This record gives sequence, C-alpha cells and structure tokens, in this order.
Amino acid sequence: MNPVTRILTISERNPDPSIIAVASQAILEGKLVAFPTETVYGLGANALNPEAVARIFSAKGRPAEDPLIIHLASPSDLPRVTLEVPPMALLLAQEFWPGPLTLVLRRHPAVPPSVSAGLDTVAVRVPAHPVALALIQTSGVPIAAPSANLFGHSSPTTARHVWEDLSGRIDLILDGGPTPVGVESTVLDLTSSIPTILRPGGVTLEALQEIIGDVHTLKNSPLDRGKPQASPGLLGKHYAPHARLILLKMVNPTSLHQTLRRLVSDETSKGNRVGLLIASEDLPFVQDLPAKLAVIGSLDDLATVARNLYGGIRQLDQENVDLILARDFGNFGLGMAIRDRLSRASSQQITDDEQP
Ligand code: TXA
Ligand code: MG
Repeated sequence: MNPVTRILTISERNPDPSIIAVASQAILEGKLVAFPTETVYGLGANALNPEAVARIFSAKGRPAEDPLIIHLASPSDLPRVTLEVPPMALLLAQEFWPGPLTLVLRRHPAVPPSVSAGLDTVAVRVPAHPVALALIQTSGVPIAAPSANLFGHSSPTTARHVWEDLSGRIDLILDGGPTPVGVESTVLDLTSSIPTILRPGGVTLEALQEIIGDVHTLKNSPLDRGKPQASPGLLGKHYAPHARLILLKMVNPTSLHQTLRRLVSDETSKGNRVGLLIASEDLPFVQDLPAKLAVIGSLDDLATVARNLYGGIRQLDQENVDLILARDFGNFGLGMAIRDRLSRASSQQITDDEQP
C-alpha cells in the first residue's frame, strides 16, 4: 500500500526536538523520511536495515546498481560503516566535515551490500545541516540517503520539489526551507591509489588540492555510457529536465549572445517554446527575446548560481518550454560541478568554434 506523505515544517537553525523525534521514530521503523541537507534534499532510511534500504530504491524508481551515500552525525562514527579509516580520510574529515564532501572507503560488513549496490566500498559523509544532523543523531543509526527525486529527475532543493516527485511514495518530508549549496556533494574515491573525484560537487577541486595535493578527476561523459562505470549510477541521463537542453559552452560573450539570439529565432519559428538559463550579465543582451528566462546568478558569484541551478531548470520545465538553452559557467571552483550537471542534462553542447 502506498504511504500517505506527511510534511512537517521545521526550523533550519533550531530544529524542534519533538519533530525530530517523530522523524527519528519513522527511521527506526524502517520508513522513508526526506530531509534537508546543505546540498539538496535527501531521501533517508536506516542504512543498517536492508528492507528500509530496498524501499529507497523502489520509491525513487532507482536501479539497484546505483549505490547510496551513508550520512553520519560525526566522523567518530566512521568505524561503524567503514572497514578502515585511512589518515587521509581523517585529514579531509577534519577540514571539510560537516560539509558537501563524500568519501568512498572500504565497506564494513555491518552495512548491507544493497546500500553499495554490491560493491565492497561505501560512500559516506557528514552533512552540514542542523536538521540532518539532529535526525541522524536522534535516530542513532547511519542514514542512507540519495537525492530525494525520482530517478533521472533534477535533484530537489526545496520540500516542494520533493513533494512533486515523491508524494504518495514516502512517509515524511521535513521542510527546512531551501538548501543553501544547491548542488550535490563532491564524491571522492579514497580507495584508488590517487584520490579521484567521481562526481564534482560542493567542495571544489582546488580546495581538495590545497589539503591533499594530487587529485584526479574522472571524465565520465554521457558518451561513455556503455563503458564500465567507475562510479555506478553516474549515467549521463541523470539530472535531466523534461525539456531538451543545449549547453552553450562558449567563452566569448558576444558569440554566446549571438548564438542565443539565433537559436531562439530558429526554434520559435518552428513553433517551439524556448527557455534561457542564464547569468545576470546576459540579461541586457537577451531580455527582448521571445523566451522564458531563468536568471540564476552572476558570473562572479557561482555559489548563488549553484543554489539556483536546479530551481531554474524546474522553473523552465514548469513553464512548459520545449528547449532550454543554458549558458556555461566555466570550470573553476563550483563551475566544475555546475558544468557537470548541465552536461549530464544536455543532449547537445555547442562551443565557440562550432556555432550552428
Ligand atoms: O549531496 C549529496 O551527495 C546528496 C545529499 C542527499 O547527501 N546525495 C546524493 O546522493 O546526491 P545520490 O544517490 O543522488 O548520488 C550518490 C552518488 C552517485 O553518483 C553514486 O554513484 C555515488 O554517489 N556513489 C555512492 N556510493 C558509491 C560507491 N561505493 N562507489 C562509488 N560511487 C558511489
Ligand atoms: Mg541523485
């Protein structure tokens, strides 16, 4: 039988202990609770209960070969879920936890294999959100949580996004307001000889390099879909909106704006509705166009762009556009995570030297 989904509003800064108690009880009963983290909303279940973990996969429609992240309240809980805690993990934990960094380590046998899609590794992080921390602490168990969206949809940054995807499929949503970071955590594999970023996210490559030196990145483009996955579940079709999306990876703003104008005119003449996902700096050059606009922040403030990214895509989807033209935000700092998500959502990419 499908559960009736309850929504409880909770303060981000001072989570009401009586609401946390209700949610923790649900977790201990093997139920599904969506909760805010600093990155995106997570769909949580008791990581040590295989039936509860199975419910996550079925509620999301997520393939079993896509492993989950375990959320802990403190690095001191690492030995509950990992076989060993290498010195580098402790160093990174000290620097970045609580925060948007997920570490892939050896899995402890107490963690059901289904959490890790059968791998002998496990992904773990300590989230920097008072509601998430209170929930994990009070329930007293590690909480497995993927992003709280239907498989293949954009990640939810508000409780409303969670509701749109999962109402009637999960037990409880804790509404702690919009999530401050807006893109998922950086997934860093510490089981390879050189630490490797499997998914860029809220902690930047540059910040990691400052602490641990050499870091590899994994180029896992949508074109590699047929090849073995170093990080299962990192499929190109992730994070996709309903509308077709074209990523304009142009460095030259003049050619970007000319191409935007040309594509809007071509597409609208074919009867297609177009949405633009752009920076505030682009606005003067495109605001007269017959297109829906999602202005997600300034080129100088990628934290704001990241926070508004998924909301902007969902907004354009809800405005029923057929095509989203998204600008690129570079590859430095948070730009890498933003570009990664837009590339995965896109069916086509255009660069300066291949203007249509
Ligand atoms: O910010 C986040 O990471 C959010 C919040 C809720 O914590 N969670 C999230 O979970 O984005 P999800 O399930 O949407 O993405 C988890 C990513 C997937 O790309 C998966 O392949 C990778 O982590 N992952 C999980 N376990 C892994 C493992 N053992 N080895 C390699 N990659 C793993
Ligand atoms: Mg996800």
